[in-house]
Formats: sequence, structure tokens, C-alpha cells
Amino acid sequence: KTKTYSGVGVDPPAKGHHFLHIDDFSKEELWAMLQTSIKVKEALKSGDNSYKPFAGLSMAMIFTKPSMRTRVSFETGFFKLGGHAIYLGPDTIQIGKREATKDIARVLCRYNDVIMARLFAHEDILELAQYSSSPVVNGLTDYNHPCQIMADALTIIEQKGRIEGTKVVYVGDGNNIVHSWIRLAAKFDFEFVCACPEGYEPDPATVALVNEGGAGKVMVSHNPLEAVKGADVVYTDVWASMGQKEEADLRKQKFQGFQVNEEMMAAAGPEALFLHCLPAERGIECTDGVVEGPQSVVFQEAENRMHAQNGILLHCLGRA
Ligand code: CP
Repeated sequence: KTKTYSGVGVDPPAKGHHFLHIDDFSKEELWAMLQTSIKVKEALKSGDNSYKPFAGLSMAMIFTKPSMRTRVSFETGFFKLGGHAIYLGPDTIQIGKREATKDIARVLCRYNDVIMARLFAHEDILELAQYSSSPVVNGLTDYNHPCQIMADALTIIEQKGRIEGTKVVYVGDGNNIVHSWIRLAAKFDFEFVCACPEGYEPDPATVALVNEGGAGKVMVSHNPLEAVKGADVVYTDVWASMGQKEEADLRKQKFQGFQVNEEMMAAAGPEALFLHCLPAERGIECTDGVVEGPQSVVFQEAENRMHAQNGILLHCLGRA
């Protein structure tokens, strides 16, 4: 019965499914989650307060570092659909340090119907899932950010009417967002380009996985102004994330020419959308004008974290 999650054999939860990695689902399953997200969003927007599929359920949310969007979107999304979410920050849980990960998993699943965890170390989320009889949802690791990418895909589908046939150009380093985008391109037929400085490329094995039989196509470029031509989406992220602050100044030098500014959006063309997973360092990886400009959909994208995750949770809990 063991299912492969992220290439590792993990027993499925007693009821439902874990959501650890884009890879673990077929295109049809991912599409069904996105369709559910659209329906739930419509229900919430209509003011229908009677739709409470999570009534009587509780969700434990484990965070090892600060977060605004992930925490608030999971907590409010679960609450709006009738459930109760419990925040467990670094003061409460030090995963694998104060208490073994497998013990935390076995305790929390006895109280909670689902566990959302933002653990950074990918092996930690796999261990949590291995020992939890409740579904575990990955709220970000150093390798991937699958909930963010589902929200991004939802935003593109809403704005462009489709994801397949589009060209998505990410400008920045080959980070966890990029790896999740590449994994999505293995399932859906679209072109993904990572325009990054030399030395900051995504994992070559992940790129090869798509180009050797995936649905879409992935390319790596070192020329962002050329790469964004004809893009449907220009996407960026901070140049140095929480774990890389010590090399932030070096990155500012290396990433010269990789800022998403008005010149870059003009090179992409007027139809290109601007996406950013946020938080943004305005004036560093993107300009204030681009964030505030007519091509920017960053706040719709941030809202869609909540709707995409509700769709994912409904599928994980078998309530879609
Ligand atoms: N995009 C994202 O994951 O934001 P937070 O770090 O605020 O959760």
C-alpha cells in the first residue's frame, strides 16, 4: 500500500492523501484540485456562508520560521469553511530537536484531521507524513513550494483562461519556486524558462526529468531580456531568502540585470502578467512601478493561496 512521495515510499494516511510534492499527483488530479479551488472561491465570493465542508475538523499548522501568507491563508481558509486551525510556531515545536519528528507526527494526528507543515528540510516533511495517520500538507521546503505553485497556476488560469500553451519566464535564482514550476511543467504542456545568473541554475536532474518525457518544456537562460520576449507570465522572487541573508550583498552584485523593471516588462510585451510569490523587496528584484503597474496580479495571486489550498485540502480530506 506504500505510495511513493517525492521518490520515497511513504504509507498513505488512514483517510485521504498527503500533499507533499507536485510529482505525487497526475495531471488529472492536479486539474481536479484547481477546479475545486475555483468552485470554493466562487462560493466564498458569493457570500454563501452555508458551505462548511470542514465543520468539526481541526488542522495543526507547524511553522519553524516566520510566515505571513502561508499562515494566514491556511488559517482563514480553513476557518471560512467551518474548520479550526491551530498555529504551532517555533516556540511550541522544534521539529526533530526538542522532540523527535516521528513522535510529533504520531501525537498531532491523534488530535487533528490534517497537519500543515512548513519545515524547510524536505526529509522532515517526509518523516512527518510517514508517521502521521492524518494527511500532511507541505507548506514549503527548501526544495519545493507546491501550494504556492497551485495558487500561481490558478491565477494564470483565471487571467489567461489556460495554463497549457503559455510561456512562463521566471527571472531570478533556481530556487524552490522554480523546482515546483518545473515539476508542474512535467504534468502540463507549457513552456517554462528560468532566466538566472550563471551559477544559480535549478537542479539539472529536475530539468532533465521534464525534458525527457514531461508534458511541457523547460529551458535555462542567462539573458533575461531575451528570455522574457513573448512571455505570458514574468515571475520573480526575492534574490536572497531567509536562509541566505549572509550572501544577500553578493547576490545583489551577481543579479545585476535580473531586476524585473519597466524595461523588462516592455520587452515581455503588454499582454504579459507579472507574478511574485511575495514578500517582495521593492527596488531590488522588482521595481515599485512593476508591482503597482497594470500587468501586476501579485495581490490576486496572494489571495489565491487561500483558495488553492482549500481545493487541495478538500481533496486531501476526501471532501471535494
Ligand atoms: N509566499 C509565501 O510563502 O509567503 P510567506 O513566507 O509570507 O508565507
